[in-house]
Amino acid sequence: MFEPGRIIVTGGAGFIGSNFVRWVVENTDTHVTVLDKLTYAGNLENIAGLPEERVTFALGDVCDEGLLEKLVPEVDAVVHFAAESHNDNSIADSQPFLRTNVGGTYQLLETCRRHGRRLHHVSTDEVYGDLALDDPTRFTEETPYRPSSPYSSTKAASDMLVRAWVRTYGVCATISNCSNNYGPYQHVEKFIPRQITNLIDGARPKLYGDGLNVRDWIHTEDHSSAVWAILTGGRPGETYLVGADGERSNISVLREILKAFGMAEEVFDWVRDRPGHDRRYAIDPTKLRTELGWVPRHTNFAEGLAATIQWYRDNEAWWRPVKKATEAKYAEQGR
Ligand code: NAD
Ligand code: TYD
Repeated sequence: MFEPGRIIVTGGAGFIGSNFVRWVVENTDTHVTVLDKLTYAGNLENIAGLPEERVTFALGDVCDEGLLEKLVPEVDAVVHFAAESHNDNSIADSQPFLRTNVGGTYQLLETCRRHGRRLHHVSTDEVYGDLALDDPTRFTEETPYRPSSPYSSTKAASDMLVRAWVRTYGVCATISNCSNNYGPYQHVEKFIPRQITNLIDGARPKLYGDGLNVRDWIHTEDHSSAVWAILTGGRPGETYLVGADGERSNISVLREILKAFGMAEEVFDWVRDRPGHDRRYAIDPTKLRTELGWVPRHTNFAEGLAATIQWYRDNEAWWRPVKKATEAKYAEQGR
């Protein structure tokens, strides 16, 4: 068992990273340094109120070699969430995805190599491409990489760098590839928060294509416990898939949201499909469950969704400042 006293969490002011930081504070004694550039997706509010003796904030870029040289030797491990994370943005402008997702992971690997520090790299199931709706199989750790979008191809590239640095330089690293997360603090550009905040605003939800695309939903708190299990108990050099058996079509998720708002199920707009839109993601989490004994806590999607809707109702001051600009960006894309 690896028991880190101090870790860096890159991207710890974003959606999943900040939920992970809160989880670590609540469930362990480990000290966290959040390293975050505070892009449009980062928000210090996400980690506000956490005890100062447990969490330190460092404003900075994962591509900044000099900064990493100062921070990394101070800790036992780096948990790497920082990334450009939204597919639609990657289609509009892929450059920041190459820079942060590929270049940033490279700089971290090099720094961890120089100082013999452990790295956990957080990735996505989207590196495996997509499955047909009627395909009986799910992604496993052995599924070949077949990314479709600029976003997923840069995440795939970053995974490949990690694997190469493990094999060639003996860097002590693990990788997790997780399915779609939902929960509090998710940016309103993403599917579930976008529809919830549209409805709070009296605007119509927007569904891409035929709405039959399937995503495998996991509550972000379950992703946090999985990352901790892999960081502390995972075998160096290994990849673990993270998922909670949560496959659902987009239209069925949207109908659940509409129902929670007391709205009829046809009150939404069909909008232009995303180019290259992946049809279905599905994770087989057997390795994580059997090898590390991980189990998800949020197995009732309706309950998790209701709590998430309530969070956006209660925290309008958190999302209101970015809602208009996000929708303006979508309007430019015809979505
Ligand atoms: P997010 O966009 O909400 O947060 C990303 C964070 O990284 C932000 O705080 C941002 O300021 C920071 N950041 C961006 N570029 C940076 C840079 N160059 N240097 C330092 N900080 C930088 O993303 P998220 O949804 O929380 O995703 C976190 C990670 O989890 C990503 O690596 C993503 O690929 C992965 N992931 C996400 C999902 C999902 O459903 N959202 C699923 C599986 C895996
Ligand atoms: P998203 O949250 O962007 O995650 P990802 O592309 O990583 O899966 O989108 C989830 C699904 O919802 C995806 O199939 C695209 C679809 N979608 C819509 O139908 N309407 C929307 O407004 C958005 C943002 C996404």
